[in-house]
Amino acid sequence: MPAIAIIGAQWGDEGKGKATDLLGSRVDHVVKFNGGNNAGHTVVIDTPEGTSEKYALHLLPSGILTPGCTPVIGNGVVVDLSVLFEEIDGLEARGVDTSGLRVSASAHVIADYHRSMDKVTERFLGSRRIGTTGRGIGPTYADKINRIGIRVQDLFDVGILTQKVEGALELRNQVLTKIYNRRAVTVEEIVEDLTSYVDRLRPMVCDTGLLLNQALDRDEVVLLEAGQATLLDIDHGTYPFVTSSSATAGGACTGSGIPPTRLSQVIGIVKAYATRVGEGPFPTELHDDAGEHLRKTGAEYGTTTGRPRRCGWYDAVVARYAARVNGVTDFVLTKLDVLTGLEQVPVCVAYDVDGVRHDEMPVSQTDFHHATPIYEHLPGWWEDISQARTFEDLPANAQAYVEAVEAMSGARISVVGVGPSRAATIVRHPLL
Ligand code: GDP
Ligand code: IMO
Ligand code: MG
Repeated sequence: MPAIAIIGAQWGDEGKGKATDLLGSRVDHVVKFNGGNNAGHTVVIDTPEGTSEKYALHLLPSGILTPGCTPVIGNGVVVDLSVLFEEIDGLEARGVDTSGLRVSASAHVIADYHRSMDKVTERFLGSRRIGTTGRGIGPTYADKINRIGIRVQDLFDVGILTQKVEGALELRNQVLTKIYNRRAVTVEEIVEDLTSYVDRLRPMVCDTGLLLNQALDRDEVVLLEAGQATLLDIDHGTYPFVTSSSATAGGACTGSGIPPTRLSQVIGIVKAYATRVGEGPFPTELHDDAGEHLRKTGAEYGTTTGRPRRCGWYDAVVARYAARVNGVTDFVLTKLDVLTGLEQVPVCVAYDVDGVRHDEMPVSQTDFHHATPIYEHLPGWWEDISQARTFEDLPANAQAYVEAVEAMSGARISVVGVGPSRAATIVRHPLL
């Protein structure tokens, strides 16, 4: 059985966690392949007692909630060890078995100086800030690329770890003290902090690339779950207003050790409208009551930082771009229920940039900043759709909205979400 990737098609928070959970019972391994605890995935699970349990995951893959499914933190992830164990303990306290978790020996580790650097850099940038989550993600990936990063495997040899921390701090301490006027960090405090986790970490660590390829050899199903999204990808996103990792389908391979030839399906998660957290261009953003309505109805507040998410209409140019960059085979359109009760639903079909129509993403970032959406207005619906379980259960205008968006977005819409819980889902074409 080949590997399947789930990716975000917009600016994050599309509902990747719910989609992963939806597939969980048919999947043997769920792999997080990029990012770290900047991600926030909310998963709502219905209990046999008729209530629902809500989980917020940051560093752990959403598949950890599915019994029998092996969760894997791949080599492309940056790991904050205190968050890792906090999350594990939180889940164990709620009765979730996390003993199957495997962590790549080659994943990089977030140290205290990475978190400090993230915060002081943002403060220093002032109005040019990125609006990061402040979790140390960017500085940790910067050290990885600069070849002064600390990897999980380094923690098991104090001599090597000390050498590496010394090397990293040589540069970091200069920057922290001379540019940002902060105190220098000592090698001893970092080594002591990182080694304090070693005993708990050791049994989880392995060559996860080997593990996953052997699972594929045995015909098992491997699901690669992205953090963040296409427009936040370091290469394909709205640079510099991006995260520092590869959140697209290509990153699923480099971040897991699974070759592209083993990837058979790419599922793009796309919201029926659009949101963004942090700074950066967002052509369909709404600054009026309509934006406030989407934020309230869709509960659009960050899972990680609690920040209100910026809200706007569906952008088909962005969806087509995501379909192309990732090779999306199926879209999951989430939160259609949030659009209920609107007279008309605008959808951005192209941009106007200084009088010129753009049907595809403009080549230059400056043009994207100046892009004015060209809207098509689709008729709305008033009926409550949260109980719809088949496409035919949807009112005609909601069906027409899905079909119109599908025709504009470059791949078929196989699943439609009508509520946060697993059950609130319409399957048009089975994903597995
Ligand atoms: P992720 O980061 O892509 O996993 O998404 P988040 O969990 O940050 O944000 C998506 C939010 O939408 C979560 O609170 C989900 O419970 C919720 N959600 C997912 N699908 C649907 C849906 O179809 N309808 C509604 N109303 N909420 C949904
Ligand atoms: P999930 O996986 C939405 C945004 C931040 C900031 C930029 C860089 O839940 O979809 P970083 O801390 O990564 O260096 O911040 O990226 N960002 C997200 N926005 N959802 C996320 O994750 C995000 N992870 C990072 O707000 O603009
Ligand atoms: Mg999220």
